[in-house]
Amino acid sequence: MPEVCWLLVKVRKIGTKEARGCVGCGAVAHVRMMVATNDIVIRPPCRRDGGKFMELVRASGALDANSPYLYYLLADHFSATCAYAEAGETAAGFVSAYRLPDDPACLFVWQVTVSPDFRGMGLGVALLQNLSQRPWFAEIERVCCTISPSNKASRRLFAKWAEQIGGTWREESYLVASELGTAHEDEPLLTLEIGGA
Ligand SMILES: CC(C)(COP(=O)(O)OP(=O)(O)OC[C@H]1O[C@@H](n2cnc3c(N)ncnc32)[C@H](O)[C@@H]1OP(=O)(O)O)[C@@H](O)C(=O)NCCC(=O)NCCS
Repeated sequence: MPEVCWLLVKVRKIGTKEARGCVGCGAVAHVRMMVATNDIVIRPPCRRDGGKFMELVRASGALDANSPYLYYLLADHFSATCAYAEAGETAAGFVSAYRLPDDPACLFVWQVTVSPDFRGMGLGVALLQNLSQRPWFAEIERVCCTISPSNKASRRLFAKWAEQIGGTWREESYLVASELGTAHEDEPLLTLEIGGA
């Protein structure tokens, strides 16, 4: 008998959009929302979604594309901490994240991208919010990510998520351009102590 997810009866506001409904049980949390005129489902990915992750990264115009193999593993092994958004059969976005193996109270958010067709409608924040609404997030004390200095959209996206979950970001040097290869910016590490001042 599956547990009924609390999201089932909850109606939330995401920006100016209303996210209504949801089916969720056990480890699976599906959220259905309207983004502009698109009916979008956000859910933990399954292995076959790895190919869609790859397509979204290639279309992002900003992210390093890793191998298809990696995205299939990510979608399979880290499904509980990743989220995939689709509009019917169309891939709309995803976020990949994992709890640090030696520090599971820390969630590292790796790549987040929204298809160019769906940007600027609140979907990026909704993907991150989908993670922070899962039951295991109650055990998370810190969120980390790296953001290159010029990626204003990403900085605003994470700042907006932080407004919702509480806390302030601190930034420190982490990966530098010389380690990442040609034409790559530094990737400073941003850490959000949840609830911290
Ligand atoms: C970053 C990205 C995921 C944002 O997705 P999105 O769905 O457009 O974001 P949202 O609509 O949820 O917007 C979230 C906030 O970011 C702001 N934002 C979005 N795009 C922006 C841009 N290009 N410049 C400045 N701010 C931007 C929004 O205005 C909003 O803030 P506000 O509510 O205060 O106005 C998307 O631009 C993307 O996929 N970029 C390429 C990949 C990438 O850089 N990923 C991040 C690093 S891993």
